[in-house]
Amino acid sequence: MLERILYVSRAAPGTELSDIFRIVSEARARNAAADISGALVFVDGWFVQVLEGPAPAICATYAHILADPRHVDISFRARERALCRLFGDGLVLRTGPKLSPEVLREFDYSFGFPVETFPADVLLEFMVWACGSGRGAGAAPQSIAV
Ligand SMILES: Cc1cc2nc3c(=O)[nH]c(=O)nc-3n(C[C@H](O)[C@H](O)[C@H](O)COP(=O)(O)O)c2cc1C
Repeated sequence: MLERILYVSRAAPGTELSDIFRIVSEARARNAAADISGALVFVDGWFVQVLEGPAPAICATYAHILADPRHVDISFRARERALCRLFGDGLVLRTGPKLSPEVLREFDYSFGFPVETFPADVLLEFMVWACGSGRGAGAAPQSIAV
């Protein structure tokens, strides 16, 4: 059975883009070994991460992530059964120019993804639009071609 978790956190002070790339490259290797996939967005010093995989692997990985001093203010947003993987097999990273301003605008992005304006379902939808690999990924929702 697949599970999905979703959380938001703030990068520890002094975290540089090079640190993010290191985190992601290590995470990709560990996740592949644990059959975990997902997506990570980094914007204005905040992370949003979705992880999908077998429940025991997700729990173990999240325990490591929780204890990681490279981020703080970790806000757990959702844990749910997943019918399928939404982000392919790897760990998609979206930050800087790879993060579509159109999608941020469409979702009324505000600093830190506060739960009031980004409840779990909206946040997951945001992640799919920002990181998904399907048709229309990276574009604003209204521009889907049908
Ligand atoms: C924002 C963020 C996202 C991370 N994502 C993952 C991940 O998807 N998979 C993973 O194995 N480690 C991830 N890590 C790294 C873990 O926190 C941790 O360093 C790693 O699992 C190794 O565990 P250890 O530090 O207890 O040895 C992430 C760290 C941060 C700060």
